[in-house]
This record gives sequence, structure tokens and C-alpha cells, in this order.
Amino acid sequence: MIKLGGVRACVFDAYGTLFDFASAAAACDRIPQDRRAALTALWRDKQLQYAWLRSLQGRYVDFWQVTGEALDYTLDSLGFADEGLPDELMALYRRLSAFAEVPSVLRALRDAGYATAILSNGTPDMLDDAVAGARLEGLFDAVLSVDAVKVFKTDPRVYQYALDRLGLAAREVAFLSSNGWDAYAASDFGLRAVWCNRRHQRRERLPGAPEFEIASLAELPPLLGIG
Ligand code: LAC
Repeated sequence: MIKLGGVRACVFDAYGTLFDFASAAAACDRIPQDRRAALTALWRDKQLQYAWLRSLQGRYVDFWQVTGEALDYTLDSLGFADEGLPDELMALYRRLSAFAEVPSVLRALRDAGYATAILSNGTPDMLDDAVAGARLEGLFDAVLSVDAVKVFKTDPRVYQYALDRLGLAAREVAFLSSNGWDAYAASDFGLRAVWCNRRHQRRERLPGAPEFEIASLAELPPLLGIG
């Protein structure tokens, strides 16, 4: 049974949804094992805060710069002063691992005739590297960056940009994000939001209501009547 009826394209958030941003610190030998989770969490929090704050202030710079500035704050806060560490972590951020189910889910969607796309805060170069590094080339009809509209999620112009580029109506687009705030905002905008709640987070108290909540992207094809 198709639960997401009328959908023609599946659009994915990148970081945390397709790509595991924890895999950067996890691959960095210079960070002790027991500090990696804290580094990942603070880096991510600051990266998002800086993106949102810059959007509020009308002071856009691209996500690569935001990610670097968030990392500098994080290393400073946690007391990591090793020379070369920022460059090493930034390089690792360019080739994050994809979550295990991602390639097979994308193939299943495409085989069933659904269009697939990324819609991310990441710059076009960051997203190209992530797709290539995870060997996902050829599995997306479009890789869309907010850099085209010069504002970050959750500005509605970002979600509208995806519709404009895909030439589809909001009701025809399923939007997948592991970030609750992104899924809620996409739902509020009118997309068919599916929250891939990998980390079993509590529901957000924000506008919007994702149509479905799943724990892994492997649960997406059945919502579309595949498999
Ligand atoms: C993205 C971040 C927000 O890919 O996860 O847009």
C-alpha cells in the first residue's frame, strides 16, 4: 500500500540524513576516542547556530566557511590547539561516510521511477565531494545547494528553490531529513515531510508536523509502495 501517494520525487537533506557527520571525528586519530562525541556534537550545534544566526542577520557566507568557523570555536572550547588539526578535520568533513542503507534505498527509489535529489545547506563543492566520496554518483537527479538562494534552511525560499528546480508541486515532493527542525519546517512549507529520526529525539515544538517518522531511510521505500 502506498502511504505517500502522489509523490514523484524524494528530496534528501545531506548532513546527518545521507552522510554521517560523526564520521569525521571518528576518523581522526589525533582526537582521543572519548572526546570524539563531544567534539562532533559541539561542532554540529555551532555549525547550525551560525547558519541560523547569519540568516537572521542577513550576513550569509557559504556553509564551508560556517563549518570552519564552527570548528574553530569547538576546538578552542574543548582545548585542542594542535597545529593542522582544523585542516585535517575539514578535509575529513569533505568525505563523510554515507549511512549504510543509503545506496540501496536510492537505487530502489530510482528503479521504481521516483526522482531523487539532495537539498542541503552544503556548498555545491562540499556536496559533490560527499556524493563522490560515498560513491553515490549517478544516484541523484539534482544536487541542490542553498548557496543558490544565499540563505540557510529553514528559510522558506530554500524549500521553494527545490520545487522550482524540480518543476514539481509541494504535494509531489517527499522531503527526508534526520533534523527534526528541518523536517518540521519542510512540512510547514507544504512538502511531504518524513522525519528520519535516527537518534530518537523528542518531537519538536515548532510549526509543522512531519507526515511520517522513521528510524532509518530503509523504511522509506515501503511508504512509497516499494518492496
Ligand atoms: C544540511 C544540513 C542542515 O545538509 O544537515 O542541510
